[in-house]
Amino acid sequence: MFDFKNKIVFITGAGAGLGLGCAIGFAKAGAKIAVADLSEKAVASAIAELTALGADTLALHGDVSKASDVQSMIDQTVATWGRIDVAVNNAGISAPIRPVAETLEEDYDRVMGVNLKGVWLCMRAELQVMLKQNSGCIVNMASALSQRVYPCASFYVTSKFAVAGMTRTAAVEYANTPIRINAVCPGNVATPLVLSTVDDLDSLASLHAMKRLGTPEEVANAVMFLASDLSSFNTGTLLPVDGGWTAQ
Ligand SMILES: NC(=O)c1ccc[n+]([C@@H]2O[C@H](COP(=O)([O-])OP(=O)(O)OC[C@H]3O[C@@H](n4cnc5c(N)ncnc54)[C@H](O)[C@@H]3O)[C@@H](O)[C@H]2O)c1
Repeated sequence: MFDFKNKIVFITGAGAGLGLGCAIGFAKAGAKIAVADLSEKAVASAIAELTALGADTLALHGDVSKASDVQSMIDQTVATWGRIDVAVNNAGISAPIRPVAETLEEDYDRVMGVNLKGVWLCMRAELQVMLKQNSGCIVNMASALSQRVYPCASFYVTSKFAVAGMTRTAAVEYANTPIRINAVCPGNVATPLVLSTVDDLDSLASLHAMKRLGTPEEVANAVMFLASDLSSFNTGTLLPVDGGWTAQ
């Protein structure tokens, strides 16, 4: 359906879950994938899976909450392939489920560091490359929880509301350039992140009007739409992929 032949796609958190789903989607559409992840093991297994699909890949190991790691991963991508056509800022984590009075400073710093600072650091570095080449698309991984609250997940919800705000602000800042900046807002998908946080998948599924969980492929399709010319009039869009959760 999509054609990203020979496009250079940089994806954070591409070793597992939704990031891996996006990497597989772009690989099947012909893209070269820079697989950026904190976990070297996850990078290795993602590279094996993408290579089996016939994709050119670049293994990148780093922490998106550290400016030097982000710069190094972007520099390696440009040194290898000369450009970045699409950046998917997907890496994200959750915190223990707790009411605000019981939350911990270390969890705040960790979640905001990866989910918000990580997206900012990546966007800053990516935009510097894209402005030079005068082209590019950025897709941030927000969440249905950038539009709705989920009790006892205040840090996660706050980080995703902020990603939505940063996406829209940056989109408007660069709207007079060829660079478009959007976000997808997925509902619940049974990835390692969700499986490690929640036991009751049925109750998560029941949040969606469609009464089921989403799949990584469904999220990847929305990301690829926002990264493709099919969405040429979209910038600052927060695209729900949530089985009708936020429509209710
Ligand atoms: N799964 C869902 O239901 C869901 C719904 C909405 C939004 N999201 C968002 O999608 C994104 C991916 O979530 P997921 O469910 O696939 O998670 P996951 O835990 O399954 O995979 C995340 C990947 O990111 C990597 N990662 C974690 N911290 C990192 C860091 N500091 N630097 C680089 N890589 C790092 C992990 O090693 C892992 O490979 C997150 O931003 C999450 O908030 C997920």
